[in-house]
Amino acid sequence: MPHFHQLNFFALILNICWTLGSVSSQELHTHPNRASNEGNIGSSYFFYQQPQYPRDCLEARSQCSTSNQTGVHLIKPDGYPEPFEVFCDNTVDSGGWTVIYRFQNDSLFFNRDWTECKFGFGFLSQEFWIGNNELSFLTNQKTYELRIDVTSTEGSSFYVTYSKFRISDEYGEYKLTSVGEYKGTEDEINRFLCPPNSEDEVYIYSNCTRRCSCINGQFTCDDTYRCSPNAFCEERNNGSQCYCNEGYKGDGVNCTIDTPPSDCQDIYNRSRGSAESGVYKIKPTTWEGDPFDVYCNMTDDGEGWTVFQRRMDGSQDFFLYWSDYRDGFGSPDRELWLGNDKLHSLTTQRNYQLRIDFVNRYGAPYYAKYSSFSVGNANDNYRLSNGGYSGDAGNYLNYFNGQAFTTRDVDNDAWSGGNCATHSYTPCGTSCSYNSGWWFNNCNYSLNAPYGTNCLYWYGLPGSYCNAKYTEMKVRPV
Ligand SMILES: *[C@@H]1O[C@H](CO)[C@@H](O)[C@H](O)[C@H]1NC(C)=O
Ligand SMILES: *[C@@H]1O[C@H](CO)[C@@H](O)[C@H](O)[C@H]1NC(C)=O
Ligand SMILES: *[C@@H]1O[C@H](CO)[C@@H](O)[C@H](O)[C@H]1NC(C)=O
Ligand SMILES: *[C@@H]1O[C@H](CO)[C@@H](O)[C@H](O)[C@H]1NC(C)=O
Ligand SMILES: *[C@@H]1O[C@H](CO)[C@@H](O)[C@H](O)[C@H]1NC(C)=O
Ligand SMILES: *[C@@H]1O[C@H](CO)[C@@H](O)[C@H](O)[C@H]1NC(C)=O
Ligand SMILES: *[C@@H]1O[C@H](CO)[C@@H](O)[C@H](O)[C@H]1NC(C)=O
Ligand SMILES: *[C@@H]1O[C@H](CO)[C@@H](O)[C@H](O)[C@H]1NC(C)=O
Repeated sequence: MPHFHQLNFFALILNICWTLGSVSSQELHTHPNRASNEGNIGSSYFFYQQPQYPRDCLEARSQCSTSNQTGVHLIKPDGYPEPFEVFCDNTVDSGGWTVIYRFQNDSLFFNRDWTECKFGFGFLSQEFWIGNNELSFLTNQKTYELRIDVTSTEGSSFYVTYSKFRISDEYGEYKLTSVGEYKGTEDEINRFLCPPNSEDEVYIYSNCTRRCSCINGQFTCDDTYRCSPNAFCEERNNGSQCYCNEGYKGDGVNCTIDTPPSDCQDIYNRSRGSAESGVYKIKPTTWEGDPFDVYCNMTDDGEGWTVFQRRMDGSQDFFLYWSDYRDGFGSPDRELWLGNDKLHSLTTQRNYQLRIDFVNRYGAPYYAKYSSFSVGNANDNYRLSNGGYSGDAGNYLNYFNGQAFTTRDVDNDAWSGGNCATHSYTPCGTSCSYNSGWWFNNCNYSLNAPYGTNCLYWYGLPGSYCNAKYTEMKVRPV
C-alpha cells in the first residue's frame, strides 16, 4: 500500500490533471486487473449482447488479432454514449493497457479548469489527459490496475502499479476512490507522488515512522518522525498521524501534559494499555501541589497499581519522623514511603483497593488484598481504613484497621505503655523491632520496621519472624 494519504493523491489528479517538473516523461495506463474477476458483472448481465466496441484496450487487443498494435483504437466503456479514441499500449507488460495520460516534453499546459479536466485535452500521439469523464466510465466497469511509467530527466526509468484504480463520477467529483495495493519501491513512490503546489502537504507512513513533505517538487522525508511516548499512531480521514494521548496536548511528536493523570490506572488507560511499569508523574484530583513521582506497576492482577511502599534491601532508613512520613521519602523505584498527605489525597479521590505483595525469605510470593482502603487526612492523623481481605499472606492489616498513624515523635497508638514507634520487641531482636512509622495499635509488627537481618515480619505469613524479604504496597481504583 502507498503509505500516504489517498486524499492528496486524489487532489493531484483533480486539481491539476497531473503535472510534474522532475521527470521527463511519464505515462499512466490502466489495465483490468488480471488477478481479479471483480467488476465483470456489468458485461455478463446481458451475456447475449456482444458489445459492438471493445470496452477498453485489453478487450480491443483480444477481439481482433489485427488490432493488437500499440496505437489509437476506438473503445466504448459501459454506459458511455459514444465510442471514443484512446491510445492502447500493447507492448508494456503483455499489453492491453489504456493510456490515460502522457507527459513527455512539457509542450502542454496541464493545470486546467474543471471542464477541461473533465473532457480531456491534448493529442493521443503527444501529451494528453484522457478526461475525468472517460476515466470514470472506464474504471467503473471492472477492477483496473494502474501502471505509471516514469522516465527521469537523467534517463533512468521505473514504474509503479496499483492493483485497484477507480475514480468516481462527476457527481462524486471524480474522487479517487481506490488505488489498491502499491507495488514498487518507497523511493520511487517518493519521486513520483510529489505534486507541485503542495508545499504544505504532509505525508506520513501508515505506521508513523516517516514524515515526508514536498519541497521544490521533491519529497523530503524525515525518518526520525516518531510518536511521543504519550501518543499513539492512528489513521483518520486524511491518513496516519501521531496523536497525543488523552490528557496530553501537542503535535503527537511532542506531547505535553494537559490534565495530569490522577493515578497509575489513569496513565494506563490513557496509553491505551501500552504503558509499562516504571516511574510516572501523577496528580490526584484533590492534590493541590505539583504532580509527583510514583512507581506504577502495570503488570499482574490487572493493571495500573500505584505503589506507595516498598522494602527490598534495607537501603532506606524508615525510623523517621512525623514530617518525613507526612511528606514521603526514598525513591519510587527502590525503597520508599510515598507520604501520608499524598496517600490521603490518592486514596480518597475515588474508591481504592490495596494489594500487598510479599516475597518470603525463600523467594516464594504471597499477597494480601483489601477491596477497600483509604487513609484519613492530617487532622485525623492519617487514620487507616481497610476491609474485604483476600489472599494468602494473612489478614494481618485488619489488626490496624481504624488506627491513627504513629511516628517516633508523635504517639497516636493504642498502647498505654509508651510509643510503639520507639519500642523494641526483644524476643526477635532487630528482625522484628517496631521502630518505624505505622498505624500502630497495641503495637505489633510493622512493614516499615528496620529491615533487620534482611527481612521483616508479617504476622500470618508462614514462618516465624523475618518472614518477608520484599514487600510492596500499592493501590488501584476498585
Ligand atoms: C498480435 O497479432 C499477431 C498476429 O495475429 C500475433 O502473431 C501476435 O502474437 C499478437 N501480439 C500480441 C502482443 O498479442
Ligand atoms: C513534444 O513531442 C511531440 C511528439 O514527440 C512533438 O511533436 C512536439 O513538437 C514536442 N513539443 C515540444 C515543445 O518539444
Ligand atoms: C513502517 O513501515 C515501513 C514501510 O512499510 C517499513 O519499512 C518499516 O519497517 C515499518 N516500521 C515499523 C516499526 O513497523
Ligand atoms: C482532512 O481533509 C479535509 C477535507 O479535505 C480537510 O478539511 C481537513 O482540514 C483535513 N485535515 C487534516 C488534518 O489535514
Ligand atoms: C519537540 O520538542 C523538541 C525540544 O523541545 C524540539 O527540539 C523539537 O523541534 C520539537 N519537535 C516538534 C515536531 O515540534
Ligand atoms: C480505566 O479504564 C477502566 C476500564 O475502562 C475504567 O473502569 C476505569 O474507571 C478507568 N480508570 C481511570 C482512572 O480513568
Ligand atoms: C508488579 O506486581 C506484581 C505482583 O502484583 C509483581 O509480581 C511484579 O514483580 C511487579 N512488577 C514490577 C515491574 O514491579
Ligand atoms: C499481633 O497481631 C496478631 C493478629 O491480629 C495478634 O494475634 C497478636 O496477638 C498480636 N501480637 C501482639 C504482640 O500484639
